[in-house]
Amino acid sequence: MKKKETIVGTIDREVLAFTAGRDVILDRVLVEADCIGTAAHVRTLAGMALPAPILAGDEARAVIRELVGIVKLARRGKFRITERDQDVHLAVERRLTERLGDLGKKVHTGRSRNDQVAVDLRLYAKEAVLGIFEACAALTEELTRFGRRHARVPMVGRTHLQPAMPTSVGVWATAHAESLLDDLVILRAAYDINDRCPLGSAAGYGVPLPLDRRLTADLLGFRDPIHNVTYASNARGKCEAAVLNALAQLMLTLSRLAEDLILYSMPEFGYFRLPAELCTGSSIMPQKKNPDVLELVRAKAARVLADASAVSGIIKALAGGYNRDLQETKEPFLAGLETTRASLAIMAQLVASLGLDRDALRRGFTPPVFATDRALELVAAGMPFRDAYNHVREHLEELDAADPAEAVKAKTHLGASAGLDFGYFRGRTGAVKRFVKAERSRYYARVSKLLGVRYPAVEAAE
Ligand code: ARG
Repeated sequence: MKKKETIVGTIDREVLAFTAGRDVILDRVLVEADCIGTAAHVRTLAGMALPAPILAGDEARAVIRELVGIVKLARRGKFRITERDQDVHLAVERRLTERLGDLGKKVHTGRSRNDQVAVDLRLYAKEAVLGIFEACAALTEELTRFGRRHARVPMVGRTHLQPAMPTSVGVWATAHAESLLDDLVILRAAYDINDRCPLGSAAGYGVPLPLDRRLTADLLGFRDPIHNVTYASNARGKCEAAVLNALAQLMLTLSRLAEDLILYSMPEFGYFRLPAELCTGSSIMPQKKNPDVLELVRAKAARVLADASAVSGIIKALAGGYNRDLQETKEPFLAGLETTRASLAIMAQLVASLGLDRDALRRGFTPPVFATDRALELVAAGMPFRDAYNHVREHLEELDAADPAEAVKAKTHLGASAGLDFGYFRGRTGAVKRFVKAERSRYYARVSKLLGVRYPAVEAAE
């Protein structure tokens, strides 16, 4: 049996490879969060009211300086996590010990990798989710802009995909915008759940040290500590599931927008023109311009749904306290965040240069599209609605092609083709953008203070 020496004992080579798994790669994105979390922990250790401090104030500062060094190394792609390290946590502890000797060996006092990985993921998720809010606001803006530019351009509204009633491009575009804004309400709830600090819960049962968990949470810019130490451990995976479920909602909206665009840009409809630079050709058919980007967004929605389901499946019926199963929630979590961000960004780019063909949209209007409007004209002349409905149904062949532009103008009530309030969309999107800005500046201010360098710049500050 081949053994490998690690800083937490000797482990069989195969077992080490199997248990470290993909952490040695996945954890690369957690290096910064791990350093920030560790900085808050050493500050808390140094601040503890004990007769003999575990770490003096200047020792904490020395550790933090090394942590900043690790952040810089990681940004240059020079910080290694080896299989022997198992994960980012032990890689950082190894480096601190190599550089600071006994001082490095003290940093893990009163902490477990369980609360450490939980805090890392929450710090990482905070920034990633704020990025998603921002990307989503940008797409909402593009959809609103497109809808406003073509606010009164008539479009056939469909039910069952069959021609139904007159509507407008403005209504079509902002329907997707409003869906995204609602998805962000769910994401905001998940963000708030994520915004609580698990540090100090250690392995899930606390430690016999007077750790000031409020101070730790505060140093890291979290709204609060998670109160119960065991819940802090059990919440791993659950918090990820909350975020992923919100992301799944966003991706559902994107998949439907993508499908509408695929459909309405095919030559048989020709309502919309996809920007050429967002289409790809065929290796055999010279004429092809395919909507690959939209098809991939449609498929990636299934990926994010699967990521949410993978995490939920892993934590379902999991016994309380840490179980190594939780490590497997990391990959779908990181993947779901990145897939959603990338999908939002490419969709914003696509909508920003989306074209439209007024004539093709107009050609969609056949006389039956005006059937309901005609029945309501009869209602206005005094006929009960059901009689008007039956009359029109029995005389469908007599329906004239009315003017779609007039039909669009006639719907003046809230949210209809002539009653869209673009200020409503601007207002809700603006609130999202202000939220992102305020949260980021609050978080960056805390981390800058904690690390003693301007964050996230780091390099420039020195
Ligand atoms: N890499 C591990 C994970 O992601 C860190 C926690 C390990 N904790 C443990 N008790 N083995 O879950």
